[in-house]
Amino acid sequence: MEMPTYRPGLEGVIATTTSVSYLDVDIEQILVRGYDLIELARELKYSDVAYLVIYGNLPNSSQSEEFAKELTSKAEIPEELYRLFELMPKNTSVMDALRTGVSFLSGYESPDRLGNNSYDTNLERGINLLAKVPTIAVSAYRVLHGLSVVRPNPNIGYSENFLYMITGILPDAESTDAFDKIHTCYIEHEMPNSTFAARVIASTLSDMYGAVTGAVASLKGPLHGGANEAAIKMVLEILTDGGPDKAEAYTMNKLKRRERIMGFGHRVYMKKYDPRALFLRDYIPRLADNIPNGMQISDIYKKVEYVMNREKGLYPNTDYPIGILYYMLGIPIPLYTPIFLCSRMAGLAAHVLEQHDDNRLFRPRVIYNGRRGLTI
Ligand code: ACO
Repeated sequence: MEMPTYRPGLEGVIATTTSVSYLDVDIEQILVRGYDLIELARELKYSDVAYLVIYGNLPNSSQSEEFAKELTSKAEIPEELYRLFELMPKNTSVMDALRTGVSFLSGYESPDRLGNNSYDTNLERGINLLAKVPTIAVSAYRVLHGLSVVRPNPNIGYSENFLYMITGILPDAESTDAFDKIHTCYIEHEMPNSTFAARVIASTLSDMYGAVTGAVASLKGPLHGGANEAAIKMVLEILTDGGPDKAEAYTMNKLKRRERIMGFGHRVYMKKYDPRALFLRDYIPRLADNIPNGMQISDIYKKVEYVMNREKGLYPNTDYPIGILYYMLGIPIPLYTPIFLCSRMAGLAAHVLEQHDDNRLFRPRVIYNGRRGLTI
């Protein structure tokens, strides 16, 4: 009998067909609905790219305006959710609160409707989740940290409102623009673990809430979305340990101990620069003046990048610059990975729509290496 091929971590395995996005490694391009993601980030606002990801086509100007309004008008969350955050143990991480919050929303649909995975129902659900996850994440953060809630403002744009809910202050145009571009860079990325998790769950014909809840749990892991928080913590550790001059020794010590440097390496483009990181790293010196040690942080970024490339031939993935940029935007660290999820919500909705549109249950096999023939 021919032995089936086993690929640890499913490396190189084709899991599905999709028209949402593709990592075209040969030309170092992230293709999203036919467009280069970096061009989309450079030229368009997040809500327009979210429309493209979900509907498959770019919006015209009235669709763009309507969709942006739809997102902010649906951003408010049920009162019970604010109460739920009050009841949560204070040690709850924002990512776990977000996971619970997404799951909680399913209770606002009747059992009959919840079982309806038609395109139109899923579309409405996906847009509703896209609009609400920022409010869930930020409100959970504020309540868990003893701060008063800042309700979403339906009269301002998506990214402006996102930053406003975090700080309680209307952000300046430069910060809003940088945040919006980072958000677009995170919007969709083919078949990372979280998207795969969502599709696997959706393939049982479970609903979008369940699929997204699973994706939140997946994204939390430090080998995935959690790397943006880990990356800034590392940079801050270097800063307090002596600054840029200590960056090389710090990195070398970690490598000697065979520890991972968070924000480096990637399953698909392991030995290439993540195009999103390449685009976003230019924003680091631009935002450096926002914080007291900005230039030192920028120098640490470059130094670690240089050492990692020299020693391991590895490049930053998008979590490395983004961890630093969020810090420069004054965003509290526990929100970094939840914000990633909020951006990725557009991609997750598109993938669940696609999965339910042409479903086949995911159910792989194993190579058994356990014992046989035991009797009691
Ligand atoms: N630091 C040090 N060494 C690394 C790193 C890293 N960040 N990433 C990979 N390597 C090395 C491994 O030690 C291994 O070397 P070896 O063959 O000498 O043992 C080799 O590169 C291959 O690594 P694997 O773990 O087998 O690669 P895999 O594809 O399974 O992992 C991953 C990819 C998880 C992203 C890995 O690069 C990593 O742990 N990076 C750090 C975490 C991170 O930044 N995650 C964010 C990913 S992007 C995203 O989610 C937005």
